[in-house]
Amino acid sequence: MLKKLAITAVAALTLSAGGALAAGGEGHIEDVNFSFEGPFGTFDQNQLQRGLQVYTEICSSCHGMTYVPLRTLGDEGGPHLPADQVRAYAAQFEVFDPELDDFREAKPTDHFPASNDPNAPDLSLMAKKRAGFHGPYGTGLSQLFNGMGGPEYIVSILTGYTGEDKFEAGTTFYENTAFPGGWIAMAPPLYGEDVEYADGHSNSMHHEAEDVAAFLMWAAEPKMMARKQAGLTGVIFLTVLTVLLYLTNKRIWAPIKGKKTA
Ligand code: HEC
Repeated sequence: MLKKLAITAVAALTLSAGGALAAGGEGHIEDVNFSFEGPFGTFDQNQLQRGLQVYTEICSSCHGMTYVPLRTLGDEGGPHLPADQVRAYAAQFEVFDPELDDFREAKPTDHFPASNDPNAPDLSLMAKKRAGFHGPYGTGLSQLFNGMGGPEYIVSILTGYTGEDKFEAGTTFYENTAFPGGWIAMAPPLYGEDVEYADGHSNSMHHEAEDVAAFLMWAAEPKMMARKQAGLTGVIFLTVLTVLLYLTNKRIWAPIKGKKTA
């Protein structure tokens, strides 16, 4: 009976694994070692500033980020821009003010603008929306062991163009090894040397892609570091509590246990 069950289970697993493989369409995601991975990982402030530059100069011509308040660019643990730079950054955007019934310069209290291109999705939460972590047979193991998630997916999309394109139903599609289905409607946004970094960091296509992916991860989860810290504090607290409980327990039962062995 047990043997039969085991055989059925193995057969079911193999079949579903085969099914997942056969379904295909899963893009190829490469692993990237980001500074913010692991229990002690933190965002790299310089990388976030470079990523903001790539987003501003390239991606923002199509994509918006309406959930992200501009003032958070000044937050510690994020890009941490000085207050005057945050104000200057905000001032380059125009927002519609219903009170004035007119457009005005954006202030740090406003949010990033919406997408200009109606087909380009909002990028505020993209780094968390996309998994890219499926690993063998969609088990999620790559996410767990390699920390492969949304940022890796974004890097893989930005660097995954093959150079092929096709025109279908009024839209041009570009072949991309990371995009599910293999054809994406976004023209390759990065070629390398698209931006000039003030800190002299390499502006190869791959580095630009990593920087903007890190920036989008911060945009999607600005409090990641605080969350990790809280988690760690919790673990330490529970460890101390466990030791105390163990010792108390021993002490309480000591007289009774002592009698037994005597
Ligand atoms: C010329 C306009 C344009 C520019 C510039 C552009 N994108 Fe896109 N992007 C699009 C469009 C359109 C789509 C939707 C593609 C689709 O669904 O086939 C898209 C989709 C995406 C997606 C979502 C893919 C998915 O899984 O649905 C990501 C991530 C993305 N872009 C990131 C970026 C980043 C990062 C940059 C800057 C380096 C950028 N884009 C620059 C137009 C653009």
